[in-house]
Formats: sequence, structure tokens, C-alpha cells
Amino acid sequence: MSDRRTIRDVDVKGKRVLVRVDFNVPLDRGKVADDTRIRAALPTIQYLMEQGARVILMSHLGRPKGKVQKELRLTPVAERLSGLLERSVAMAVDCVGAEVETAVDRLRPGDVLLLGNLRFHPGEEANDPEFVSRLASLGEVYVNDAFGTAHRAHASTEGVAHHLPAVAGFLMEKELNFLSKALESPEHPFVAILGGAKISDKIGVVDNLLGKVDALLIGGGMANTFLKAQGHQVGQSLVEEESLPLARELLDRAGRKLILPMDVAVADRFDAEAQSKIVSVEEVPAEWRILDIGPVTVEHFAQELYMAKTVVWNGTMGVAEFPRFAAGTQAIIEMLAESQATTIVGGGETAAAVQQVGLVEKMTHVSTGGGASLELLEGKVLPGVAALADR
Ligand code: 3PG
Repeated sequence: MSDRRTIRDVDVKGKRVLVRVDFNVPLDRGKVADDTRIRAALPTIQYLMEQGARVILMSHLGRPKGKVQKELRLTPVAERLSGLLERSVAMAVDCVGAEVETAVDRLRPGDVLLLGNLRFHPGEEANDPEFVSRLASLGEVYVNDAFGTAHRAHASTEGVAHHLPAVAGFLMEKELNFLSKALESPEHPFVAILGGAKISDKIGVVDNLLGKVDALLIGGGMANTFLKAQGHQVGQSLVEEESLPLARELLDRAGRKLILPMDVAVADRFDAEAQSKIVSVEEVPAEWRILDIGPVTVEHFAQELYMAKTVVWNGTMGVAEFPRFAAGTQAIIEMLAESQATTIVGGGETAAAVQQVGLVEKMTHVSTGGGASLELLEGKVLPGVAALADR
């Protein structure tokens, strides 16, 4: 469980509270296309408003690499946030500087101001001490509620925490509680499902989870490298040749814990309209490629999931953006939605897949952090969390 101090532990009444949120949301033609992360930060923002704090929100959006990019301004986010809070949220011209200081000085208790995109300044990602001081000078208390960015040691996620009393927001607390509890004291049987394209992204996660889980179910593109390491022919499937030795080592170490696909959906090309068929992993045609797990595998996974008391899932089982190759991912979502286990879904594309079918409410917890949740599953300490005050 998280042992960090939270906003409940500090007096914020009348104070300027600098809150790092993760409003790095997808935009579509200048509008917020998915407001999950904005909604997830509302409990913290509303609590601070109710307590009479002067709320200063800061976030990055996209990867502008230290330069102003008009299409990455946070204005659409301020609009959506105003709608959700049912009151106007002012948008600052920038995140530091004299005009911003004036806007901050004008805030009354309960007001909310959103600063400009932090990553328009190179000092943000560089965690530059001068930029850190300029940001920190805006607030009297620092709150980190940006779980999705907690794996970055940037000025607003790490640096500022050393200048002000630094506590976690409610979203940060919730994310850490669910993910750390699953890792530190899970109810057994504990089953992890890993997918996604690349094995190299998840080697650390496999490594860390093997010591904790009762079963590790592997699908998605990353399964191909394991299948090849076992000696199967995988045709034209995506394989990371350089990861083969490591895959062999993990297979040896895992023994029966690691469960790979027995059958797969193969396609004659990488295309939503490709010809496809289900074959056993022993029979992948040389010119075809694996794009999803098959029904026998789903059945096998189902047996493990049926017994589970805790399930952690990260990574789709196939090319879920092609409807023909989304069946494996869909089956996992349905099984978890019906499961009585504690079900924890990693962020990014996995969370998006659950959201697309409207089953988020059926999961115990769907994380707002992609990279951040993966790093936690790897057993890493997130710099944004490490910098917060201990209880
Ligand atoms: C995310 O969307 O994963 C976070 O907002 C972090 O963004 P980044 O990968 O650009 O640092």
C-alpha cells in the first residue's frame, strides 16, 4: 500500500496549491477525444476547491520537445475541464513568467487556473533547477496526481517536490494502492496476462512477475518470440531475434507457470482485410503471420482465470485495431468483466480496448498510466512517487 502523505494530511485552506496532473489526452481536430484522465483527476481538484485552496494545475500534452507547438496548447483541456467542473477554469498564457504570476496572484480561494503546456520549455524534461525554482515559486504546497507521468523525473513531476511540502493526490494514491497491493500482497491464485507487440518492452515485467504469480499468460506479438524460442516456426510473424536468448532463459526459469498460445489466428498479410484462419502453433504457414490468439488458447486461459483471485492484465492479445484479429482481446475483456477476482488493467492500449467496449466499470481498477504502470509491474520505483513525502 502507498505510504505517501496525501492531500488529506496537509492544510490547504487559502493556500496556492500547485497540482501536477496528467492531462496528456488524445485530441481530435482540436477537441479532447478521450477525457478519462481529466475525469480521473476531478476528485483531487474538487476536494481542493472545497477546502478553499487556490488551485494551480499543470500538465504536459504530447511531446513538443521544448518548443511551442500551437496544436499542443492545453486550451481544449481547459474547456473540457470547465464543462466537467461546471465552472470556468482560466487558462494561463504559459506555465512560468510574470503574466502567470499575476494570474496566480489574482486567484481567490476555490478558483482553478490551468498553466500552459509544461513541455514547451526544455527545462521541464531536463528537470532544470532554474525552471524547477520558477515553477515551485508559484505554489505553497505541491500535489502530484499525475500517476501516468510518475515514471518521468521531470521538473514538474520530481524537481518541484524538493522545494515544497509534497503530497499525493487521490488518483495517485488510488493507482499506487491497487497496483502495489497486487504486487506486494495479492490474493492467490494470482494470474498475470501480458500481451502487446514487443517482448523487449516487457522483459522486465515478465522477470519481476515470475517470482510473484501463479500463472503468466502470454499473448500478442510478444508471444511469437517465446514460441520461436521454443522451436516453433512462426512464418512471417513479428519476432525480436535479439530477445531469443532471454526468452529461452525466461522459459527455463518459468517452467509450467508461463502459458503460451496453443493455437493462433494467422493472416496472409498485415491488413484488416487479410485472409485469415485458425491453426495450431505447430502449423503456422511459412508465408503467413500470427495476428491473434486462437479459441483453444482462450479456453486454456479461461481455466486459469476462472480460478484466479487476483488478475493483472497489460497488453492486447492480437492486433485489436483490426476487428478480425480482436477476438482474443475481446475474450479476455469479457472473462475479466465476469470474474469475481480483483481485476487490474494497465493503461494505454489495454485500457483503451476495455473502454471501447464500455466495460471499464466491470473491472476493479483500470489504470490511467501506460508506461508508469508497466514500470511498477517491473518492480521499479517511480521517481515522481519517490520524491513525495513519506507518512
Ligand atoms: C503517457 O501518456 O504515458 C504519459 O502522459 C507520459 O507521456 P510521455 O511518454 O510522453 O512521457
